[in-house]
Order: sequence, then C-alpha cells, then structure tokens
Amino acid sequence: MKAITVIGGGTMGNGIAHTAAASGFDVTLIDVSEAILQRAVSTITSNLQRGVDKGKMTAGERDAIVGRIRASSDLGAAAGSDIVIEAIVENLDAKIRLFAELDAITRPECILASNTSSISITKLAAATKRPENVIGMHFMNPVPVMTLVEVIRGIATSDDTYRRVEDLSKQMGKTPIEVNDYPGFISNRVLMPMINEAIFALYEGVATREAIDGVMKLGMNHPMGPLTLADFIGLDVCLAILRVLEQGFGDPKYRPCPLLVKMVDAGWLGRKSGRGFYEYRK
Ligand code: CAA
Ligand code: NAD
Repeated sequence: MKAITVIGGGTMGNGIAHTAAASGFDVTLIDVSEAILQRAVSTITSNLQRGVDKGKMTAGERDAIVGRIRASSDLGAAAGSDIVIEAIVENLDAKIRLFAELDAITRPECILASNTSSISITKLAAATKRPENVIGMHFMNPVPVMTLVEVIRGIATSDDTYRRVEDLSKQMGKTPIEVNDYPGFISNRVLMPMINEAIFALYEGVATREAIDGVMKLGMNHPMGPLTLADFIGLDVCLAILRVLEQGFGDPKYRPCPLLVKMVDAGWLGRKSGRGFYEYRK
C-alpha cells in the first residue's frame, strides 16, 4: 500500500495523518473546510516539533513529513487511494453517507477503513458494494504515541483485507489486535463504563474531580484520571460511544450520566473546546 487518504482532520485524523506520513507514506488529508485543514497541519507541525526540541529529529525531517501530507477539502482527492481511513464525527448517518460516497469515488480494490470508536463496521460495509474491503482500523489518542490499533472485522471483511490492514498497522509502527464487530469493540466496551462511572461519582458528590482522578492515577497507576481522559477524548465522543453501547446491547448499565449529557448540551466538549471537567487555554 502506498497512497493513504485520511478523512477528518480533528483530534484523531491529524494524528493518523501525522503517523502515516512519519512512516513514509504519501497522505491525502480531507476535511470539510480549508480553515480546519490549516489547523490540522499546524497541529501536526507542532506535535512533530516536540521531537525536534528533544533532538530526536531535525527540522528538515519535520518539514519532509509535513511535505508528504496533501490537504484538500474536495472528497474527490481520495480517488487514487489504496486505503481510505475515515476519522469524521462519531455519527452513524454521517459515516454511512460518507462510505456510500467513497464507494462511488474510489477504485473497487481500495480498502475503506473506519477509525470509529464504537459504530458497527458491518453497517458501514453494507452502505458499499465492497463489504469485503471494509474494516475497522481503530487508533488510540494520541495516535503518534499510543501503540495499539484495534482491527475490527465486520461480518463480511475478507482475510486479505484483514492481512493488508494488519501489515499497514505494523508499517506505521503499531501493534494490531484483532477484534470482532460488536458495539464498542473491546477498547470502549471496557473503557467507557469506567469513565461513565467516574462521571456518576462526580454527579453524586462522592468526591471532587481532582479526588476521583487522583484515586485512579495514584491507586491504579493510570497515566490520566478518568475525568481528564474524558476531556482528552472529547465529551461528545464519549457520549456518542455510550449511546451506541446503550442502544446496541439494550442494557441500561451503559446509560450515559445526565451530567455528561448536560455538559455536551452546553458545548463543553473537553480539551478541544477549552472546557470540560477542567478548563484549558484554547
Ligand atoms: N503527538 C506527538 N507526540 C506526543 C503527543 C502528540 N499529540 N502527546 C504526547 N506526545 C509525546 C511527548 O512528546 C513525549 O515524548 P517523549 O517520550 O519522546 O519525550 C511523550 O509523548 C509523553 O508525553 P508528555 O511527557 O508530554 O506527557 P505524559 O508523559 O503525561 O504522557 C500521554 C501523555 C501519552 C497522553 C499520557 O498521559 C497517556 O498515556 N494518557 C492516556 C491516553 C489514553 O488512555 N489514550 C487512549 C484514549 S481512548 C481512545 O483513544 C479510544 C477511543 O475510541 C476513545
Ligand atoms: P473531532 O471532532 O476532533 O474531528 C472530527 C473532524 O471530522 C472535524 O474536523 C470535522 O470537520 C470532520 N468532519 C465531519 N464530517 C465530515 C465529512 N463528512 N467529511 C470530512 N470531514 C468531516 O473528532 P475525533 O475525536 O477526531 O473523532 C473522529 C473519529 O475517531 C470518531 O469516529 C471517533 O469516535 C474516533 N475516535 C476518537 C478518539 C478520541 O480520543 N477522540 C479515539 C479513537 C477514535
């Protein structure tokens, strides 16, 4: 595989584009507006700068990586890709629309992968005429740092598609782990109930935000407490995942905490909006 297209230049899309370009691939990065794309490229440049500052790469290497990323607000730019990795908003209808469009634009052998946190790969595949070439390629945040790619097989995903995505994950310096297609896969089926429970503990006044995070950091050796992690992931993303779990399993144990719903209603989305359980400088 040579030509990679990443769709969505937000938290995850810019990290996937960064990592693919740093692994030597030519990357097309697509989002809905030029302003968002500019912000994505500047985020990638400043994240690469961390390595320059630490003497792990030269400014020339940083520029060469950024130079391998072609940004475009035209979905047609995905046409020549070997694989498209979708990282747009966690919304079933938006993803289904996009997969149907990509099916029309790209070559039939092109793999259509989704970075979804929870949505059914089988449903996305059914929006295309190539369900055997559709797969989940679930990177973790921050992508340049976290080594896991959860690779999700839809009901129709072929062994060949699985193998090619497994190889690509390794070429990107990641460790792929195979998972079947059920709501939230493994990562978020296990992670989100913990985050939701931490939000319930705050909502019920069991402890302060700092105390809840402190218990999990110092007591369980988590690198971030669950409320800090929720802000880092995005509260809208957390809520969308919990809704998929709740609806997918029909089990009230996944019901999102009303405090999470209220914060998302207020536009308090965590780090990306400047306010979540904590406050951040924009
Ligand atoms: N891009 C590039 N490099 C980055 C980076 C980024 N966005 N963020 C951090 N780094 C690098 C730093 O430069 C540093 O590099 P060196 O080791 O070379 O010095 C290294 O990562 C560690 O960073 P820091 O020293 O700044 O900070 P830290 O030690 O506190 O680590 C962290 C930061 C890696 C984010 C750590 O806090 C952590 O692991 N947090 C938990 C993250 C996590 O759980 N992610 C999964 C979320 S769930 C998900 O992604 C799935 C889903 O569907 C919701
Ligand atoms: P985000 O809100 O930061 O970014 C989403 C981007 O997609 C935005 O820039 C938006 O303009 C763009 N977009 C929306 N619709 C589009 C379309 N039709 N075409 C092109 N671009 C479009 O979201 P994110 O946190 O990067 O999440 C993206 C995906 O990755 C979601 O499916 C999410 O569940 C998943 N994910 C998120 C995390 C996380 O920690 N945030 C981790 C793993 C996976």
